[in-house]
Amino acid sequence: MNKILLVDDEESIRNMMRMTLELDGYDVETAADGPIAIQKFQEQSPDVVLLDVRIPGMDGVEVLRRIKELNHDAEVIIISGHGDMEMAIECLRMEASNFLTKPVSEEILSLSLKRSLEKVALRRKVKQYTRDLETLVREANVELEKAYQFRENIIEHSPDAIVCIRKGGMIIIFNSAAEKLLGYRKDEVIGVMNIVQIYPPGVARKIMKDLKSNDFGGIDILQKRQVSLVHKHGAELPVYISAAILYENGKEAGSVGIFTDLREKIKLEKQLLRSEKLSSLGKLSAGIAHEINQPLTGVLTFAHLLAKKFKNDESTRKDLEIIVRETTRIRGIVQGILDFAREMPMQKKPRKIEEVLDQTLEIIVHQQRFFGIQLVKEYGANIPEIVFDSNLMEQVFMNIVLNALDAMHGKGRLAIRTRRVDEWVEIEFEDTGLGMPESMLDKIFDPFFTTKDSTEGMGMGLGLAVSYGIVKNHNGDIIVASTEGVGTIFTIRLPLGNN
Ligand SMILES: Nc1ncnc2c1ncn2[C@@H]1O[C@H](COP(=O)(O)OP(=O)(O)OP(=O)(O)O)[C@@H](O)[C@H]1O
Ligand SMILES: [Mg+2]
Repeated sequence: MNKILLVDDEESIRNMMRMTLELDGYDVETAADGPIAIQKFQEQSPDVVLLDVRIPGMDGVEVLRRIKELNHDAEVIIISGHGDMEMAIECLRMEASNFLTKPVSEEILSLSLKRSLEKVALRRKVKQYTRDLETLVREANVELEKAYQFRENIIEHSPDAIVCIRKGGMIIIFNSAAEKLLGYRKDEVIGVMNIVQIYPPGVARKIMKDLKSNDFGGIDILQKRQVSLVHKHGAELPVYISAAILYENGKEAGSVGIFTDLREKIKLEKQLLRSEKLSSLGKLSAGIAHEINQPLTGVLTFAHLLAKKFKNDESTRKDLEIIVRETTRIRGIVQGILDFAREMPMQKKPRKIEEVLDQTLEIIVHQQRFFGIQLVKEYGANIPEIVFDSNLMEQVFMNIVLNALDAMHGKGRLAIRTRRVDEWVEIEFEDTGLGMPESMLDKIFDPFFTTKDSTEGMGMGLGLAVSYGIVKNHNGDIIVASTEGVGTIFTIRLPLGNN
């Protein structure tokens, strides 16, 4: 029901009009003066105010002003006597809805009320529409924000590094995988660095050129290709890159590159290659060695016999002794090759690794090559027993220690440490020998790779190849780090779990 506030100081008029209005179906409130009218307006929020301009306490114009202050959209119909024309005009100026002159006919009153109420209804509808629209916009915004967040999340949590640039090269997206790969924090890069800074010189431009050409997956696309990136600390990183040019409103806006770290893959490939090389070389050389062994035994036996026969002919005997010595050496080498190739079943037992280390050292510390070398043992506390073939592991330790001694030439320090790291036991051999250049580290596990002069009877280049095979067969790993002129660290890792 529509509510009407009727403001008139004359009780008879109030009563009469109230009756008429109530008969028409309105809910009517009345006020006899200005202050009451404003109070009731505030309390009841009527749809329409019928306001007599000449009332006590406060004149009608002032009441209208106050009402409009409270609600600019309030519908106020002014009722005035004949003499109040100026006041009525003033009211219209202040946006009164209408004005009626006394005596007000029922017909005119109902007509103008109807018009005012229509305006009120319309205004309400518009308000509702606006509210609905606002809700819609808010909801759409939330959805949009969600979609945006979702996309952000995908980019941020991608396992591949994602880097986006604006035209010109400024980096604007750099996800956490990129942070991890390249060593920079987002804030060091975004809006600060140019894409050329994460590539070796000239590479960025070449990629851009290839992106634009049609030959690498289509125009504006570069399909998976191996390139290098430059880590914050200068190291080059092998990665696969896929890239695309990005457009905004049909105009080139920038590009996106997705990078996959290839370090682990390359490492595994190398290991595989090494194992294959080891196994095929092993088979081949074992065959040859076997063939050589038999005639060699013949040569050796007859050389011995002849040496005995000529024991009184000193010069011939000496020559024959040389044949015996050198042939014995060849036999040693052949035996080495056979040992390398032989696949003996392993005899694994649980043991403390330190016991086997000590056992190995016991054999060599008393040899002359160990004089002048300071031996430091730092065995970690509480390292559990692990399961391994102690004969084979002794061979590994021996090879590594002998290499260290060779590298130190009778002067320096050999530190041997053991420690537990997660589910591994690590055995570290650090020497202060001549070290190796980076380029050599890849080759030292190859069979027959040696820098030692084998005419002096040492160095076949099998020590590390054999050791590598043994450690791999224990599901372990050998890691080497070396600095020329400073020394070398070999680390053997063996798994704690039974195998
Ligand atoms: N601790 C080390 N310091 C410096 N160079 C090393 C060290 N260990 C190994 N090397 C290098 O690696 C090469 C290969 O070692 P590996 O033990 O396989 O063969 P070798 O010692 O030359 O011969 P072999 O062990 O068969 O007698 C060595 O010739 C040497 O140049
Ligand atoms: Mg060796």
